[in-house]
Amino acid sequence: MVSPLLLSSVLAVFHGFALAAKPTAPSIAMGWYAGWHGANVDPVFGISQIPWDRYTHMAYSFAETTPDVRLVTLNGSEPELMPQFVSAAHAHGVKALVTVGGWTGSRYWSSNIATAANRTAFVNTLVSLATQYNLDGLDFDWEYPSASGIGCNTNSPSDTANFLSFIQELRQDPVGAKLILSAATAITPFIDADGNPSADVSEFAKVLDHIALMVYDVGGEWSPVVSPNGPLKDACAPADFQQGSATSAVDAWHAAGMPLNQIVLGVPSYGHSFAVATSDAFKNGSKTELALYAPFNATAAPAGDAWDDTPGIDECGIFEAQGGVIQFWGLIEQGYLNADGSVKDGVPYLYDTCSETPYVYNMTTEVMISFDNAKSFAAKGKFIKSQALAGFAVWEAGGDSNNVLVDSIREAAGFL
Ligand SMILES: *[C@@H]1O[C@H](CO)[C@@H](O)[C@H](O)[C@H]1NC(C)=O
Ligand SMILES: *[C@@H]1O[C@H](CO)[C@@H](O)[C@H](O)[C@H]1NC(C)=O
Ligand SMILES: *[C@@H]1O[C@H](CO)[C@@H](O)[C@H](O)[C@H]1NC(C)=O
Ligand SMILES: *[C@@H]1O[C@H](CO)[C@@H](O)[C@H](O)[C@H]1NC(C)=O
Ligand SMILES: *[C@@H]1O[C@H](CO)[C@@H](O)[C@H](O)[C@H]1NC(C)=O
Repeated sequence: MVSPLLLSSVLAVFHGFALAAKPTAPSIAMGWYAGWHGANVDPVFGISQIPWDRYTHMAYSFAETTPDVRLVTLNGSEPELMPQFVSAAHAHGVKALVTVGGWTGSRYWSSNIATAANRTAFVNTLVSLATQYNLDGLDFDWEYPSASGIGCNTNSPSDTANFLSFIQELRQDPVGAKLILSAATAITPFIDADGNPSADVSEFAKVLDHIALMVYDVGGEWSPVVSPNGPLKDACAPADFQQGSATSAVDAWHAAGMPLNQIVLGVPSYGHSFAVATSDAFKNGSKTELALYAPFNATAAPAGDAWDDTPGIDECGIFEAQGGVIQFWGLIEQGYLNADGSVKDGVPYLYDTCSETPYVYNMTTEVMISFDNAKSFAAKGKFIKSQALAGFAVWEAGGDSNNVLVDSIREAAGFL
């Protein structure tokens, strides 16, 4: 009798050989669809505007957790659009998922899976959701196990262990067994009970189809200086400004046991705005060449575009300043970029070859924007191909314009 251990190592060697002989093409071109941009907002990004032919998977966001383990709610995300979303996806051969959680919707993830009884109840809640809407899959966006993103999440040192038990139980369910199960993750592995990123996520790899690394909001209004939103690399940055990147994230998750072909690179179709004085915006003595890591005035948060969050009190009761988020279409609308995504004449522009991300500057408003364009998406696509990752996932599908971004990453990653 062949021991299972020996058999699996023989298969692993064989599998490795097969991969080396014939590189696998990426298979996941995913978008997140923000339901709250689907109606009752200007501009609207309706279901009929989704470029389905560019995507293999589309995830409706968000089903938010609630204090009652028996309920998740789509109430903040135009729930009436869900049936139309799923049938449009299916008509185009695209897998329809719902994303559970999100920044504000993760507040009760921890309590909903804290005990065996709650895990069973939450499995039933999500199986019912999937059945109700005829979904192909569930995407878990818990921000974050053992580390409250928004600040008032229920949370516990056992979050990551409970999360694994929960997904394992969902896989045992006859409906759950057939669903695509994915997770949107931070750039470092899930936090373990000791407070550090897990050194072993291999059990997650057995029950999840893939993870999407959210390599965006790495830099933003919370950074000490103007920083890249979605850096591809950061080891090449000055030591003080190494905040993580696609490269560091893939390395960290892979080292912890997540196979490369189950890693999807999450990429942003938006940028962050910073108030930067003209005297700080340019390299020493230059009137045209933008400076990297410029200081900015954090109390003068600039407005992004029409979808940007205005100042207000969040779900935790904490005051949040203007978001400063600008979609790729917003950069075109506000005159930084041409409709084809190229930079308008006269607009100060810098492409940082370390982070592989661009910056533009408005001399009148003294606003600097760190964002992504076709060139940076091509760099990310090449990285996906060279690392043999599973593909990409765009937050959010509605941020793009004329498919400039999605077409660029598809082509570079090897989808076209
Ligand atoms: C969602 O909205 C419906 C209809 O207004 C309401 O009945 C329900 O209680 C809401 N659910 C949650 C969890 O807020
Ligand atoms: C289990 O879920 C219920 C909500 O349905 C919640 O009130 C309770 O606190 C949860 N248990 C734990 C230990 O978090
Ligand atoms: C600015 O230029 C001067 C003269 O070339 C140089 O000595 C100085 O180090 C530069 N400062 C910065 C911040 O680059
Ligand atoms: C930063 O912005 C605030 C609000 O607009 C302003 O009051 C303050 O003077 C600015 N600080 C600097 C150093 O420019
Ligand atoms: C800069 O801001 C001004 C004032 O809002 C606006 O008129 C102009 O179009 C902007 N320029 C660019 C390049 O975005």
